[in-house]
Amino acid sequence: MGLLCSLAFSIQFLLLFSSFLFTNSLSLNHSTATHHHECHQHESNALLSFKQNFIISKSASYNPLSYPKTLSWIPTTDCCSWDGIECDELTCHVIGIDLSSSQLYGSMDPNSTLFSLVHLQSLDLSDNDFNHSQIPAKIGDLSQLRHLSLSHGNENTFSGEVPPQVSQLSNLLSLDLHSYPLEPLPYDLINNLQLKASTLTSLTQNTTRLEHLRLDFVTISSSLPHTLTNLTSLQMLSLFSCDLHGEFPVGIFHLPNLAVLNLGQNQNLRVAVFMGPFLLRLATSPNLPS
Ligand SMILES: *[C@@H]1O[C@H](CO)[C@@H](O)[C@H](O)[C@H]1NC(C)=O
Ligand SMILES: *[C@@H]1O[C@H](CO)[C@@H](O)[C@H](O)[C@H]1NC(C)=O
Ligand SMILES: *[C@@H]1O[C@H](CO)[C@@H](O)[C@H](O)[C@H]1NC(C)=O
Ligand SMILES: *[C@@H]1O[C@H](CO)[C@@H](O)[C@H](O)[C@H]1NC(C)=O
Ligand SMILES: *[C@@H]1O[C@H](CO)[C@@H](O)[C@H](O)[C@H]1NC(C)=O
Repeated sequence: MGLLCSLAFSIQFLLLFSSFLFTNSLSLNHSTATHHHECHQHESNALLSFKQNFIISKSASYNPLSYPKTLSWIPTTDCCSWDGIECDELTCHVIGIDLSSSQLYGSMDPNSTLFSLVHLQSLDLSDNDFNHSQIPAKIGDLSQLRHLSLSHGNENTFSGEVPPQVSQLSNLLSLDLHSYPLEPLPYDLINNLQLKASTLTSLTQNTTRLEHLRLDFVTISSSLPHTLTNLTSLQMLSLFSCDLHGEFPVGIFHLPNLAVLNLGQNQNLRVAVFMGPFLLRLATSPNLPS
């Protein structure tokens, strides 16, 4: 019994030792190879099970150049080589997912394995059909995110309340939740998402490096928080048809980097002062965001 155990132990030790040697020589070869990635297995698995939640449907995307990127996601291959996937050069962690216009149709699982990819810096799921599912609260787990886009030209994508957890994403440089009408619909038909004023306030307090904020057709139904005037890196603020009320915070006009401001189609918003060299579309403008 004792002999068996120690034998088993030595075999295990030998296996460990040789796998140590093996991985070491692999990593040496690795470091000399240029642009060679090996995906982490758990990240590969997480991506594959995310993929399984969706079917491919041409009508899920409106971009005429859309194509099903996830078809290249094959288990036996390195996930860093998959379409839409970007890995870090050094750590090989998945840091970018671009599944924009990928003909994905299906509901987003609130517990999706996507949210275990904690090294993600960029996530673009725009122009797919998420079947009216909610934006999962677990989005807040992706604390390294700098770019998040869930925009769409589709009535059937995300709906409901934007989870307050988005305000935990303190590294965000761009946040894009806008939708855009594909046909001349009554505007309120495509306001599927709601953003609570309290969430917008915490977002502006936490994402202090934000450069692009695009929320056209997201129903906010309140006045704009004065904390927006603290976002000194802000270059673009687009809030077309957000049902904004009250006085527009004048300090936003003084933001040093602001180049694009779109406040169109907010009948109850009062803008007291107009200053600065940028384009301003006022409440009554029928123009749509470009
Ligand atoms: C690298 O790979 C080659 C064969 O591809 C192998 O002979 C060598 O032992 C590996 N390790 C190092 C450190 O070069
Ligand atoms: C779309 O949502 C409906 C209602 O929640 C559900 O019954 C249906 O299974 C969903 N379809 C897909 C493809 O997820
Ligand atoms: C998500 O998973 C956790 C445990 O893993 C479970 O407690 C929770 O109910 C799940 N949430 C949903 C919405 O499925
Ligand atoms: C602000 O961000 C930090 C760090 O991510 C987080 O712990 C905190 O809850 C966030 N605050 C709000 C109001 O979301
Ligand atoms: C702007 O930030 C400063 C310091 O972080 C804070 O004291 C101030 O209350 C903020 N102003 C607004 C309008 O949130």
